[in-house]
Parts: sequence; C-alpha cells; structure tokens
Amino acid sequence: IRKIGILTSGGDAPGMNAAVRAAVRTAIGFDMEVIGIKRGYNGLIHGDFIALDAGAVGDMIQRGGTFLYTARCMEFMEEAGQKKAFEMAKKHGIEGIVVIGGDGSFRGAEKLSAMGLPTVGIPGTIDNDIVCTEYTIGYDTACNIGMEAIDRLRDTAQSHEKCSLIEVMGRKAGHLALEVGIAAGASAILVPEKEYDIKNEICRNITEGQKKGRTHHIIIMAEGCRDKVQDVAEIIEKETGISTRVTVLGHIQRGGAPTVRDRVVATRMGYFAVELLRAGRGNRLVAMKGNALTDYNINEGLMMKKSIDETLYTICQTVAR
Ligand code: F6P
Repeated sequence: IRKIGILTSGGDAPGMNAAVRAAVRTAIGFDMEVIGIKRGYNGLIHGDFIALDAGAVGDMIQRGGTFLYTARCMEFMEEAGQKKAFEMAKKHGIEGIVVIGGDGSFRGAEKLSAMGLPTVGIPGTIDNDIVCTEYTIGYDTACNIGMEAIDRLRDTAQSHEKCSLIEVMGRKAGHLALEVGIAAGASAILVPEKEYDIKNEICRNITEGQKKGRTHHIIIMAEGCRDKVQDVAEIIEKETGISTRVTVLGHIQRGGAPTVRDRVVATRMGYFAVELLRAGRGNRLVAMKGNALTDYNINEGLMMKKSIDETLYTICQTVAR
C-alpha cells in the first residue's frame, strides 16, 4: 500500500489530532504517502484534500478539536454519495483510509470497504459508546472537563444553598454522565439505561438530605434521558422547595487540550490503524481491551449497544447520597 487517506468524522473529540499525527508519521515511516481528507466524508466526495507530511502534523498533539475539520455528511448516507467518494479515492490513488469517529462514521467506512477500498476505524468520541472497545479517544478529556465544570458549579450551589442540576452530553448513552457524576461527588446521577423516579426517589433523597443538614445538592442528568432537564428542575423545586438551577454543559465538554490518557491512546491507535492497513487488513475497527489494542470486523464491532458499567452504577447508588 503506497498511499492512504485519513479523515475525522462526526462530533470532534480531544485527541483526534494526536491520532492523525501518529497515523501520518507511522505511514511516512513505512514509505507511504498520506492525504488528509477535510470535513469527513464531505471532503472525500468532493476531493477536498491536503498532502500531509511529518511537519504538517507538528504542534498538533496538544490541540483539541480536529485540524482536518469534521462534519456529519448527509450525502454520504446515500449510495450515490458513497460511489462518488469511492471514485474520488480511486482517482487520487488512495489505497486505504483511516476513519476517526463514532459508529455512524464506521458504518460509512464499512460501505467503502465493501466497494473494495480498505478502511480502518479509530474510535474517537467523547461518548465512549462503541461496544467493542473499552475506550474511545476524547472520553477522558471530556470527563475531566465535565468534572471541573461541576466543581465550579458546586462552589456556587454551596454558597447559595441551592440545587444544581447539570446536563451532561453522551448522546443516547450514560457512560459520560455516570463517570463525571461519580468524580464530581453528585448526590444523584440519572442515565438513560436505568429507570428513575424523580418524585419518589430524587426529591425524597433531597428532602432527607436536607433533614440531615445537607445544604446543597448536585444532580447529574445524561442528555439521553427521556425527561427534559428543565422539567426535572421544576419538579425538584416544587417538591422540595429548594431553588434549582439548570446548567447544560453542551459543547464545553468537547473542547480543550487532550489529557495524557487521550494523547497516549490516540497515538497508539493511530499507529495500530496504519499497521493494519499495511498488513492488508481492511474493514477493521481498532479497539481497546484491558489496555491492549486489538481489532474487530466493523460490523461485528458495532453489533450491540454498549451497556452501562453495572458495578460503577451500584457503587454510585451507594455513595451518592
Ligand atoms: O457524539 C458526540 C456528541 O457530543 C454527543 O455527546 C452529543 O449528543 C452530540 O455529539 C452533539 O452533536 P452536535 O454537536 O452535532 O449537536
């Protein structure tokens, strides 16, 4: 394999740049040429390319976001768009593609592989919701950003004796909310994977906490929960009489310099992905299992929904009071 392409797709995640850097430098080390594809599959369809040499990815490891830009590409969802993308890659002599993103991006990679263009996916999403891998690039940074934000919110909730209800990202999954909530010492964590009862469980806990002398309350809610965060705040205020403020962390969690963990995992995964392509293996997904890297067939790797860490949830139920 002489020339590979690399793209970032879906929501950006801190550490994507570190993964691109590692993939580029690994490929160059194996005498391959590397083409950076801008704005995910959009760039592949429209030939929006830049040649990447070792210098082009210098001063990148510490940067959040993705210097290749990213997008969610509607055109690529259709067969016509996939064909255009495939033809564009062929025209430019691209013999394999590294795709950094989440499950939607990997479904696209699978289509290209099926047409005869080998692809390797690197999991890059703050949601950590890819079933075959214990870790996705960006998750640790997003957890830390979320925790720091909640620490700040706690200061003011404590001073004013209020309830702070914080919505955490994670799409349909509660992994991010659960871990951030535990790290921030939340008194309750609501995730879409688990049933909860606002009135009889959350409000009652707040009232009992008040009786025991607790003056402020930190409640975390995953954005994928069925209820709207504002409605939950209203119920808490009405049932407990404690003034409740809502903060939606939103994109704050996707920004910032990647942590050590994200830079190191991204570098390992970038290297591993290029090795797979070099070995002639396409339609693969890089995955982490017990701190070792392995790979899966893309379809197999995405087959199920990743379940919440039950042990962590039980611990959280015990200590979050
Ligand atoms: O997948 C990453 C993520 O940040 C999710 O946590 C969130 O649901 C989604 O992307 C938000 O997407 P957008 O930035 O397009 O609104």
